[in-house]
Amino acid sequence: MEKIAFGEGRHVVWIAAVDAAFGLGKNGGIPWDYPEDRAFFRGQTMGHVVVMGRRTYDGLRVRPLAGRPMGVLTHRPVGEAGVEVSQDIGTLMAWGVGRSEIVYVAGGATVYEATRPWVTDIVLSRVPGEYGCDVGLDGAFLGRGWTCREERRVGSVRVEHWEREGWGGV
Ligand SMILES: NC(=O)c1ccc[n+]([C@@H]2O[C@H](COP(=O)([O-])OP(=O)(O)OC[C@H]3O[C@@H](n4cnc5c(N)ncnc54)[C@H](OP(=O)(O)O)[C@@H]3O)[C@@H](O)[C@H]2O)c1
Repeated sequence: MEKIAFGEGRHVVWIAAVDAAFGLGKNGGIPWDYPEDRAFFRGQTMGHVVVMGRRTYDGLRVRPLAGRPMGVLTHRPVGEAGVEVSQDIGTLMAWGVGRSEIVYVAGGATVYEATRPWVTDIVLSRVPGEYGCDVGLDGAFLGRGWTCREERRVGSVRVEHWEREGWGGV
């Protein structure tokens, strides 16, 4: 599948899947499984830096992700080769931006929140239904200041590309 394309320059991109209530996860995991959306995530992020929180990292089926330099935010070492760890989000983002023109932020909720000042784009998979999630995004963030540039179907999931208005490069 064709990747969602961004404009020239550096981009820090939240990539997330949310249910109809902007829920992200439940009991430390993701309570739905759309293989087509997982394949989309893999294709979209391949070759780029992916940054995430330690809980999300621990929940990956296969770690580290193949073909993508990974940065993990944690107070303690992850202890796996090929994974950059930091307890400072600024240090981790500087590491990512230094390696890759596009840095994907793949959650969870605390890391989306911590990277809010940097984010230029959001790739949002909208999963049908509500799952009673215990972590989520504040849906109000898609109000003023963001423009939806593209929508596409990925199986049963609608994927949206949102761009921060007035963004002039990082
Ligand atoms: N639907 C989606 O697209 C999606 C994407 C990602 C995750 N999720 C879901 O989201 C949930 C996990 O999210 P979460 O918010 O609970 O956890 P998270 O953001 O994945 O990880 C939290 C961990 O990151 C580290 N951390 C966070 N802030 C830090 C800071 N300021 N300094 C140093 N370390 C910091 C800490 O690690 P240490 O404890 O090691 O210090 C903390 O326990 C799971 O249910 C997961 O499945 C969903």
